[in-house]
Amino acid sequence: MGIDFKGRVAIVTGAGGGLGRQHALALAARGAKVVINDLGGDVHGVGGSVSAAQKVVDEIRAAGGEAMANGASVTDFDAVQKMVQQAMDAWGRVDILVNNAGILRDKSFAKMDLADFKLVMDVHVMGAVHCTKAVWPIMQAQQYGRIVMTTSSSGLYGNFGQANYGAAKMALAGLMQTLSIEGEKYGIRVNSLAPTAATRMTEGLMPQAVLDALQPQAVTPAMLVMASEDAPNRTILCAGAGSFEAAHITLTQGVHLGLTPDTPERLAAALAQVCDRSGESVPMAGSEQGTLEVAKAMKAHGH
Ligand code: NAI
Repeated sequence: MGIDFKGRVAIVTGAGGGLGRQHALALAARGAKVVINDLGGDVHGVGGSVSAAQKVVDEIRAAGGEAMANGASVTDFDAVQKMVQQAMDAWGRVDILVNNAGILRDKSFAKMDLADFKLVMDVHVMGAVHCTKAVWPIMQAQQYGRIVMTTSSSGLYGNFGQANYGAAKMALAGLMQTLSIEGEKYGIRVNSLAPTAATRMTEGLMPQAVLDALQPQAVTPAMLVMASEDAPNRTILCAGAGSFEAAHITLTQGVHLGLTPDTPERLAAALAQVCDRSGESVPMAGSEQGTLEVAKAMKAHGH
């Protein structure tokens, strides 16, 4: 097998069950030493116990691998820093971080409490920020790091009842965009995974026949590629039921209209052309939008 994690240390958050457990088992099976983090609460983020993480550790050790359990909530930066320190004390490095921990508090936006909005943002967004912040200086010093954000089709494309979750998941894609730029010169590559899998999280959301097709372990190869030495950088890989796709945040060619009193009317009339996808690109950085716009303005003015 070409993808090998011998000598590598990985942290997988929310690895007590579902996708995180599969990620951790696969990393360990290919030689990584793995921190199995899980708060051990229910799908809504209520309660907590380290026993879910410990079970996965036991499973890895029984198969001859190395792992340690950690019950920190990713929302608690002090506890996250202690977790990273534990990994450093035991194994001396952290090469891979898979930000996977997450919860749901689904409701239509009209009925959603702000508390449920904030908690979902806190677990997914600040959870990933905390873990990434704690490993970042270590990865910088090592000149090596692989970070995987877990985004979602609900964030990328929307899903009824998941305004909080969708906003949080899209925020992770945004976090990836900038961190992949900042990490590049340190050998840190940051990518995102948009999974589809039958876990306790999707139990109520999909019919049973569909769930049967969606084994969580069929998502894990996408994570392994993004955690590997030859990982891409700044890629959003979608994975489910053994199929893999990529999601892109693109920019259309658009049209230069200049600024006249009737620009709004001319823009309204040109909207189909503005949105036309032929020749669209994926900018390498946010500044490309402005660069393209200024270039079109200069051209229109005969420069
Ligand atoms: P899951 O509920 O089985 O796994 C999430 C794990 O995160 C749980 O074990 C939970 O205890 C842990 N967790 C929750 N809050 C935590 C906290 N504050 N600190 C540490 N651990 C915490 O669900 P699943 O499906 O395995 O989800 C894994 C990731 O994949 C999540 O980020 C989820 O949003 C994402 N995802 C899942 C999809 C699916 O189809 N299953 C679709 C798109 C995204």
